Amino acid sequence: MAPYFIQFSYIVAAALFILSLKWLSHPTTARRGVRVGELGMALAILGTLVHQDIVSYRWILVGCVLGSAIGLPMAVFMPMTHVPQRTALSHAFGALAAALVGTSEYYLHTGALGTFTMAALSLEVILGYLTFTGSLMAFGKLQDLVPSRPIVYRGQNVVNLSLFAVAVGTAVYLVMHPGQSGLFPVVAGLSLLFGVLLIIPIGGADMPTVISLLNSYAGLSAAAMGFVLDNNLLIVAGALDGSSGMILSVIMCRAMNRSFTNVLFGGFGQVQKAVGTAEQRSVRSATPEEAAAILEAATSVIVIPGYGMAVAQAQHKVRELYDALTRRGADVKFAIHPVAGRMPGHMNVLLAEADIPYDRLLEIEEINPDFPRADVALVIGANDVTNPAARHDRASPIYGMPILDVDKARTVMVIKRSMSPGFAGIDNELYYMDRTMMLFGDAKVFVGELMKELTGSHVRV
Ligand code: TAP
Repeated sequence: MAPYFIQFSYIVAAALFILSLKWLSHPTTARRGVRVGELGMALAILGTLVHQDIVSYRWILVGCVLGSAIGLPMAVFMPMTHVPQRTALSHAFGALAAALVGTSEYYLHTGALGTFTMAALSLEVILGYLTFTGSLMAFGKLQDLVPSRPIVYRGQNVVNLSLFAVAVGTAVYLVMHPGQSGLFPVVAGLSLLFGVLLIIPIGGADMPTVISLLNSYAGLSAAAMGFVLDNNLLIVAGALDGSSGMILSVIMCRAMNRSFTNVLFGGFGQVQKAVGTAEQRSVRSATPEEAAAILEAATSVIVIPGYGMAVAQAQHKVRELYDALTRRGADVKFAIHPVAGRMPGHMNVLLAEADIPYDRLLEIEEINPDFPRADVALVIGANDVTNPAARHDRASPIYGMPILDVDKARTVMVIKRSMSPGFAGIDNELYYMDRTMMLFGDAKVFVGELMKELTGSHVRV
């Protein structure tokens, strides 16, 4: 009976994982995607727990308690803006688990493993260990535990690739001579070292892309583990994880105009700091009252949310503003840049949390033609994704990155606290345009002030 149940639960779980990924790809169905993914995972775990090969339920229970004790506080207490580093930690542990399973399989059956199984096991162990240390390094960089700037030296790529080649070469030898158990720690050790060296030359700026790539490696390691353990569900789930991580990395690279090969081989991500033109040029700042007067008269408004909205947790105030403007008959849309914020879908998640209708959220290609017709482009805590330098300044580090054409709107309003640069560390020429009004202040507080003006709850003197 148990084998049938296991097969049944695995098939259903695999189908649920595929549906989950499909539904996760659109904001309207994303919540369903999460629920279905959770259900699939619960079913997969249940199916595995009735497996005849389970040796000790006690240790599984210990693992569950320990994992929950670490995972639950991480999920509850880590703020939304720290999701990239939280994801890095999850990958680190997932990859370590895969690598340890591979290690134990090798030592349990040393010399008795067939060539195909040994090859899969080697792949699992190499990817697992390098993803473990690589993800820990990525976590450290994002959390400022290690310097986030790229650490580079001459010949770095040659050193890294040589090290990787030695690890792969040793693994190939081990596949052909599985009994040479002394070589196994060499493969594991070199992979661990390679994970660290792979991440060192990459700057914090590109860490989210790298994390997505590491996600893909962890998935491939799990798929290889499926071949070792002869477990179809692991193969399917690992392949889905590996391919979706890879696709996401490619999407992020395109959105930032970075080359994918560049990410794969490191040695990039040198963040150029602001040149500091802010002091020499003047900007026009405005009060909430002045800004509200213009918004009152606007019939079409495009809101551009960015990282600052996430930091300020201003999404609910933005929803109130959306309601107030819509009630006045204005057409209000949201322009979503694929890398606005610090993780893929960051803005979609926040705006969905505030129940802003999904059909008001438009992607860059859809919204850009609308900017010249917009009365007001209201930028809330976004910076790099609005910088016109990306279109024309070849010297700019973000040159070539597709940007939102905010500068083409009739009036541009920018809510931010100061003239500080954004993630790329560069000045934004948008702020010095004649039709730009700088609205200095915290996004949540400033939008609240705007609301008071618009709803008349502010006492005018
Ligand atoms: P940024 O360019 O990082 O600018 C955010 C702006 O928000 C800053 O200029 C900051 O100015 C302002 N801000 C911070 N806290 C604020 C607050 N409490 N209230 C109001 N404003 C606040 O953001 P963006 O336009 O969203 O661009 C995202 C950047 O991240 C891009 O360079 C992108 O390449 C990079 N990146 C994104 C991803 C993903 S997947 N999303 C991955 C890797 C890299 P003040 O300090 O003056 O307030």
